[in-house]
Amino acid sequence: MTPDEFRKNGHRVVDWIADYYEHLETFSVLSPVKPGDIRAALPPAPPEHGEGFDAVLRDLDEVIMPGITHWQHPSFFAYFPANASGPAILGDLLASGLGVQGMLWATSPAATELETHVLDWLRDLLGLPETFCGNGVIQHTASDAALVALLAALHRASGGRTEQEGVHSGRFTVYTSTQTHSAVEKACRVAGLGADALRKIDVDPATQAARPEHLRTLIEADVAAECTPALVVASVGTTGTGAVDPVRALGEITREYSAWLHIDAAWAGVAAICPEVRWLNDGLELADSYSTNPHKWLLTNFDCDAFWVADRAALLGALSILPEYLRNAASESGAVIDYRDWHVPLGRRFRALKLWAVIRWYGAEGLRAHIRTHVALAQEFASWVAADERFELVAPHPLSLVTFRLREGDDATRALMERVNAGGRLYLTHTAVNGQVALRFAIGSPQTQRRHVEAAWAALSA
Ligand SMILES: Cc1ncc(COP(=O)(O)O)c(C=O)c1O
Repeated sequence: MTPDEFRKNGHRVVDWIADYYEHLETFSVLSPVKPGDIRAALPPAPPEHGEGFDAVLRDLDEVIMPGITHWQHPSFFAYFPANASGPAILGDLLASGLGVQGMLWATSPAATELETHVLDWLRDLLGLPETFCGNGVIQHTASDAALVALLAALHRASGGRTEQEGVHSGRFTVYTSTQTHSAVEKACRVAGLGADALRKIDVDPATQAARPEHLRTLIEADVAAECTPALVVASVGTTGTGAVDPVRALGEITREYSAWLHIDAAWAGVAAICPEVRWLNDGLELADSYSTNPHKWLLTNFDCDAFWVADRAALLGALSILPEYLRNAASESGAVIDYRDWHVPLGRRFRALKLWAVIRWYGAEGLRAHIRTHVALAQEFASWVAADERFELVAPHPLSLVTFRLREGDDATRALMERVNAGGRLYLTHTAVNGQVALRFAIGSPQTQRRHVEAAWAALSA
């Protein structure tokens, strides 16, 4: 594709995306296709001769679009949001256009320095501890962040032995609440500890937040059995109900036993951009690492997980390997960051560009307005649920996730969800709270307005 052909087709693609956003509301939120429908509509073999971009755009409309679930739809209330926005899409396009691979500072100095700088901006915007300053990196996802935190924790707990001897250099244990995202168990499996190394901390049934006294009991039993507590993961905003663990109390116990404290704030963390919800940050000065996803609720296209460490030594100790072909003067002088040592892959995209574009386009006040709109809508939605005696709220809802159920029971609650989702006008998902089915109503699309939340409540209550 020549630059001129790129220009011509690129304009059409940008128009296509702009049209998509203009007409987003007309689509059914959930894709109606059946398993195998999309593959059946695709040619069995790749083309022998190149095709024009017309053919690609035609098949995008005719074959691909029916199989799209519209995450950016204003009535997408499922899971947690995966925000996209104009500046992030354009920033991502620029990153693709530049096509740089920023594994080392030297392989594109701006890719590294912009990333460090933008994460310092974000640290400041979120009111995170000073110790994170200069110690931020973009991971693909919160799951990668949890894995990397575990590897750093194992490095520290083993005195650097895990790098040579593996996880069998000790009997390491990991602690997190029953409500924590499955990413932590996956990290234990990937790191070779196995799920048996993971201890689940009980939660308070009313708040769904971890009980510090149970963490202490679990750790004491392990220490008595000659295990080494390596990592405690606290959640700021659990996946099921958005519960916020008591980070300070968990952190104090973690410190007593010299374990690593990682905070998984994948969804909720970005809300701390609003000073009125800075209580989310209580105790973070005790954290060794912290992650939150601008790709969930801060207008930055997937993927973009912001991860910080208070002290980078253990992270680098766990992950840095220096083969001859990656040696270079700038790195060895210690004057620069080489992000290849801060995550699992070697190569990396210039993901900071889209986050930079988002922060510059919206400014701090625009980002705060984005969060505040959703929090206010969720509070209003929760008040409607509370006022209807057929329903009950099942957990606190200080941000933009509301969990609730029908008093009639699990079957009725599940049937309600299936019925409204089948209608195609909205999409919400479920969870289990204290062993009972509950519906999750997560507001977070930049396109969502009050009328969409009203329409959703009208459908649910009808
Ligand atoms: C609290 C929490 N942690 C981790 C994750 C995993 O996120 P990611 O897709 O970034 O790995 C999620 C996903 O929803 C989550 O809610």
